[in-house]
Amino acid sequence: MAIKTTLKMGNPKLYEVAKPVEKFNTPELQALIKDMLDTMAHLNGAGLAAPQIGVDLRVVIFGVEDEVPTTILINPKIDVLTKEKESEWEGCLSVPGMRGLVERPTKIRYRGFDEKGNPIDRTVSGFHARVVQHEIDHLDGILYPLRIKDLRLFGFEDVLFKGL
Ligand code: NI
Repeated sequence: MAIKTTLKMGNPKLYEVAKPVEKFNTPELQALIKDMLDTMAHLNGAGLAAPQIGVDLRVVIFGVEDEVPTTILINPKIDVLTKEKESEWEGCLSVPGMRGLVERPTKIRYRGFDEKGNPIDRTVSGFHARVVQHEIDHLDGILYPLRIKDLRLFGFEDVLFKGL
């Protein structure tokens, strides 16, 4: 078990475009995924991207009990399937203690590979679609605050949701 340090907003590594994985089913890739799963579980996150622990590869993991199956997704591609967008509060392990309202398309198809190189191809909507978009953004150097349209709707969660 290895819990890694999560890079925080302000670290330039979070703004880089990550590189594709070229070899699947290697001990190095397995070790990276184990570290990511341990780190995400320890921090109670819904998702984690490799660049958030300082690894420059297109690997994300995500999962939320009863809502989003735990998934290891490598070299992902997204197709947006609707013009409909929805705004919801997001948080991020690289932006601890804060939340922001982010507009995103509600329905997507995503494709990629698991750690063994088996293809993944899913069409999803709602929260699942949002989590995947948030994680894949990390691979392109985009943190969710960059997508907030009205920065008044970005703040500390204990203040924003006080009394709710
Ligand atoms: Ni994040």
